Amino acid sequence: MRFGTVRLGTPVVLAPMAGVTNPPFRRLCRESGEAGLDAGDVVPAANGELVGPSGLYVTEMITSRALVERTPVTMKMIEPDVGDPVRSIQLYGVDPATVAAAVRILVGEDRADHIDLNFGCPAPKVTRKGGGAALPWKRDLFEAIVQGAVVAAGDVPVTVKMRMGIDDAHMTYLDAGRIAKNAGVAAVALHARTAAQHYSGDARWEAISRLKNELGDDIPVLGNGDIWSAEDALEMMERTGCDGVVIGRGCQGRPWLFTDVVSAFHGRSVRVRPTLGEVAAAMQRHAELMSEHFEDELKGVRELRKHVAWYLKGYRVGGDSRHDLARVSSLEELTELLGALDLEQPFPDDAEGRRGRGGGEKTPRLPDGWLESPCLSQSERERIEAAELDVSGG
Ligand SMILES: Cc1cc2nc3c(=O)[nH]c(=O)nc-3n(C[C@H](O)[C@H](O)[C@H](O)COP(=O)(O)O)c2cc1C
Repeated sequence: MRFGTVRLGTPVVLAPMAGVTNPPFRRLCRESGEAGLDAGDVVPAANGELVGPSGLYVTEMITSRALVERTPVTMKMIEPDVGDPVRSIQLYGVDPATVAAAVRILVGEDRADHIDLNFGCPAPKVTRKGGGAALPWKRDLFEAIVQGAVVAAGDVPVTVKMRMGIDDAHMTYLDAGRIAKNAGVAAVALHARTAAQHYSGDARWEAISRLKNELGDDIPVLGNGDIWSAEDALEMMERTGCDGVVIGRGCQGRPWLFTDVVSAFHGRSVRVRPTLGEVAAAMQRHAELMSEHFEDELKGVRELRKHVAWYLKGYRVGGDSRHDLARVSSLEELTELLGALDLEQPFPDDAEGRRGRGGGEKTPRLPDGWLESPCLSQSERERIEAAELDVSGG
């Protein structure tokens, strides 16, 4: 699959996840993906081409305004995983001028090889400002952001990630897909849920088929939602006709899912089934990489805390150990706590399947009067410009 100058040797993308897909986690996923490759699977890069052999590993969402202001937190967030040949950054923004300025920083300072735009976030603090999944409802604003980003990016490919719409009565994805294609994006990705669905129920893969039919073969369509195994990834491709898959929660606490998926895309059936000892080694390495990345051991192990339950899902680990691991405060303590577990334990079937965020439907919070018109009113335009100033820190 190709996004302009970027070629993916395997049509797999690690979904941007705020608070999760920082450089250390991206590295673990990428290395796992590379472990699923055999020599000869991927044609080497030709002149002027960048190749992600095992796929694309995107940053968490970066707030355009915070990037333009160069806040230290944001500059840290856009640091690449140095082993990744393709530096892929996701931007979030609501104001076309600010998003374009952020793109100019990334491209002008050679900080990114691919830029994704986030139009899928359902978080109330984002949608009530008209951002994320609420934004494509305003066709003119959506078009202005996407067009401005594509122009500012020049040869660097820009893609769009979106949801189906705000709710079933306010679907946006087919219009947004057409607008994005006409604006010159290199691909679109669809998380096949509405904002109202949040992470509940099942992703509606049939929407991915509809989008693919709508956009034809002119640009790749990536499918996203509820891929928990290599089999799911192949099934999504087959059922929807999409060109590639985007994987989020399925790899939380399980970066080796990328070995399975990458190997499956190259026609093999490698399936990583780690013992608890292997999982513990991965947790320790994850914490060490985060401590190095943040140059702060406490911050590194604190960041690991949120991954603990995901890593241990399905394994027999007592409540006390889980409790202590979720409060771990040094690398040495982590080694001790992990060393005390029954590390010979084989892979449990319960480790498969759903993980991470779930929950029920939620009525999206929107700016007053947002649904009254698909175009921005003057007062909404003024509010949107101000909204960009409010969200900071990535
Ligand atoms: C913890 C978390 C953080 C997320 N952050 C982002 C984000 O920063 N940008 C984005 O486009 N989507 C974000 N998402 C949505 C995912 O990229 C993905 O679309 C969604 O989880 C559905 O895919 P999945 O079923 O494979 O998890 C996030 C999801 C989770 C669970």
